[in-house]
Amino acid sequence: MTRVFSGIKPTGHLTLGNYLGAMRRWATVDQHRAEALFCVVDLHALTVDHDPARVRRVSRQAATLLLATGIDPGLCTVFVQSHVDEHARLSYLLECVATDGEMRRMVQYREKAARERDRGGSVRLSLLTYPVLMAADILAHRTDEVPVGDDQRQHVELARDIAARFNQRYGHTFVVPRATHPEVAARVMNLQEPSSKMGKSDDSGPGIVYLLDEPDVVRRKIGRAVTDSGQDVRHDREERPGVTNLLEILAACTGGDPEALAGTYSSYGALKKDTADAVVEVLRPVRDRHRELCADPSYVEGVLRDGAARARAVARPTVDAAYRAIGLLPPVPEPALNAAR
Ligand code: TRP
Repeated sequence: MTRVFSGIKPTGHLTLGNYLGAMRRWATVDQHRAEALFCVVDLHALTVDHDPARVRRVSRQAATLLLATGIDPGLCTVFVQSHVDEHARLSYLLECVATDGEMRRMVQYREKAARERDRGGSVRLSLLTYPVLMAADILAHRTDEVPVGDDQRQHVELARDIAARFNQRYGHTFVVPRATHPEVAARVMNLQEPSSKMGKSDDSGPGIVYLLDEPDVVRRKIGRAVTDSGQDVRHDREERPGVTNLLEILAACTGGDPEALAGTYSSYGALKKDTADAVVEVLRPVRDRHRELCADPSYVEGVLRDGAARARAVARPTVDAAYRAIGLLPPVPEPALNAAR
């Protein structure tokens, strides 16, 4: 069976963009057609300035929200990255296969590092090596497909290159993965800045709808979304980015076609109202289920405990094989204790 792996980084509260762009499909499609692993990739949250208590809180919330979106631990594996040592163990080996030049070419690194330096801050070494850890996440589990947003395409390409290079140098060890994208990828942009994506790390509240926002907050944010000068409702990313973003969100929530929907509106106000209503309805079951799960923390803990055990069992043999293949001496086994006893 096809194996699917994806991760969410607990750097901030999950947004409507995360949900419509990726997570919704994990629950509705991927977990039913493949052997899927969904991971809260908490080690990745340490690549930028972080507050330990917040990372812990957001990680727990992300795991709970994964379940709230309908991801079913009876069908797939849900776990926290740092609970499974194999990820970090493999990452070091892959650092010995990837090159410094490859890392510095990564667009996301260049952008984030530049932003950090502009602020006069320092850049953590782990921000540079982060795509190698991501490759380890993917390769440790012999992943075939990685369903991710467009911005992660380059990182998955790198994981492919590393896998192929390792296999070629040291013998066949890894499955070479590929990125997959939903045919109708909802690309949700920031409501206040429709030229940039609705990212969770930005934390500039008014342009971002969080999965756990109350309905009146959702309505207010969408009501205040920037629209474009001009009056007509047109689907046009260049000329009408604000209105186009609302059409995309509405279409993703209702299953409609954004261009066709444009023709049915003659005012921005009506479009905003319908979009807000649609978003509130889409988020309602997620919020309700999240509330139920929060009332039962031991259930979520049990899911994560079982998930980590399963993930370890999947990853261990592959990571051990990589240690052998690359030339590390196998640990000397204990003398047969059982026989002695
Ligand atoms: N880098 C991804 C992001 O920022 C998160 C991630 C980490 C991931 N490891 C992964 C996604 C492995 C898919 C597979 O969104």
